[in-house]
Amino acid sequence: MIYRLLYALLLAHIDAERVHRLTARGLRALVAVAPLRRLLRRLLVPQDPALHVRALGLDFPSPLGLAAGFDKDASGFEAYAVLGFGFVEVGTITAQAQPGNAGTRIFRLTRERALVNRMGFPNAGAEMARARLARREHAASGTVVGVNIGKTRAAEDAEADYRESVRRLAPHADYLVLNVSSPNTPGLRDMQAVDRLAALVAAVREALADADLPEPVPLLVKIAPDLSDEDLDAIADLALRERLDGLIATNTTIDRGVLPGPGAPGVPTEGGISGAPLKPRALAVLRRLHARTGGRLTLIAVGGVESAEDAWERIRAGATLVQAYTGFVYGGPLWPRRVNRGLARLARETGCATVQEAVGAEAPRGPSPAA
Ligand SMILES: Cc1cc2nc3c(=O)[nH]c(=O)nc-3n(C[C@H](O)[C@H](O)[C@H](O)COP(=O)(O)O)c2cc1C
Repeated sequence: MIYRLLYALLLAHIDAERVHRLTARGLRALVAVAPLRRLLRRLLVPQDPALHVRALGLDFPSPLGLAAGFDKDASGFEAYAVLGFGFVEVGTITAQAQPGNAGTRIFRLTRERALVNRMGFPNAGAEMARARLARREHAASGTVVGVNIGKTRAAEDAEADYRESVRRLAPHADYLVLNVSSPNTPGLRDMQAVDRLAALVAAVREALADADLPEPVPLLVKIAPDLSDEDLDAIADLALRERLDGLIATNTTIDRGVLPGPGAPGVPTEGGISGAPLKPRALAVLRRLHARTGGRLTLIAVGGVESAEDAWERIRAGATLVQAYTGFVYGGPLWPRRVNRGLARLARETGCATVQEAVGAEAPRGPSPAA
């Protein structure tokens, strides 16, 4: 309620990226004060065993995670975990530092509870992120951190570029995500074509083998909601064939048709739409992937999750973990706590000891994937 008022009176009138920077900085400063951090932890970090999820060889205190793009440079993941997220996916990080697109890059569609962004992966590069993530190990932090990597815009050899990021970041990642689905880096989404994706996975696997890590790092691919059903099936089959650990569905959509009416004035024709309008398509993609893979992959659902009911629906549709970005922006700092509490209540109401028991509960088994 207070956040909604603050949002309507103040935040909505300031450039969205500026608000993001200011609030992230404020939150980091708050959490840096040890007694405050302890207090927030006690109040907000999920302790309910009903929320515990075991996936990708990791323990998650809640299935609700912060989606990629919020903590692009791995500078605030501890603070977001304190707010109650069960895990944080940092990035997208590229091998080389880059400024991203020029001009305004995040647009709010408040009435539609949506955002449009054309960021283009601004980030300080893999080496800077590596240094920040390495500090986490010294602090013996318990936060689960996924690392999402993408292609440096200027890089001509995409595979070499991903390999370089893997080399630096894989030793510090709890799981690794190949982002081939952002609409804001020219040509990136072409890498979802099965043969290109297979070549990328092979290149990344080589880099992982060279890194000689004590434990294998789970490898996932994040996909777009704009793929055809046939392409989704082909990617699901490839994921099984290549023994990927999971898929993340979905990134933002370029389909303006998801917006009701003609859209808000000043919204760019390029860029990806997130939030409520993406919900039906993101859910449909998840259902298709689950039907195709029948529980053999970890699916992480993202796109238009705004409430505990939304998260629960994704879990029942086959997602082991759920992420959000836009729902958190509009919901405010106490939003993760609300979703966590709601999820635990929904699990109990349906007689599940843990939310994990409900994974795929609604979904029919689909046809077996092609050999
Ligand atoms: C401003 C903004 C920046 C984003 N940046 C990234 C990114 O760097 N990498 C990525 O994989 N996804 C990125 N995303 C996509 C989100 O992780 C998520 O897949 C998408 O927004 C759908 O979820 P939502 O409806 O909960 O926002 C970004 C989204 C927004 C709104």
